[in-house]
Amino acid sequence: TFVVTDNCIRCKYTDCVEVCPVDCFHEGPNFLVINPETCIDCALCVAECPAEAIYDEADLPPDQLPFVALNAELANIWPVISEKKEPLEEAEEWIDQANKLPHLQR
Ligand code: SF4
Ligand code: F3S
Repeated sequence: TFVVTDNCIRCKYTDCVEVCPVDCFHEGPNFLVINPETCIDCALCVAECPAEAIYDEADLPPDQLPFVALNAELANIWPVISEKKEPLEEAEEWIDQANKLPHLQR
């Protein structure tokens, strides 16, 4: 399955949702997650993310491993998003910052 990682937080560009053929993105206040139960591993979303936040679970950098469980957990809580919207206003300011997990809003 594919996983949204740290660099989406406080950016949320949403280009990824436009290409997903099975609507597996779920939206929170400042982060998206992929539902591991609906993702068909097409990989189309990876190249769309300006923040390079999406990885194949098999290729995850070790420090991003906690995002596997986080995507699964939040996909069960947050609603599906299937249409692109404007990025967060703060996106450009935050795109190059690391370790944004403390800023995640639920
Ligand atoms: Fe959707 Fe494909 Fe990305 Fe999975 S890999 S989230 S199915 S676009
Ligand atoms: Fe997030 Fe990238 Fe999608 S920043 S909303 S994973 S396009």
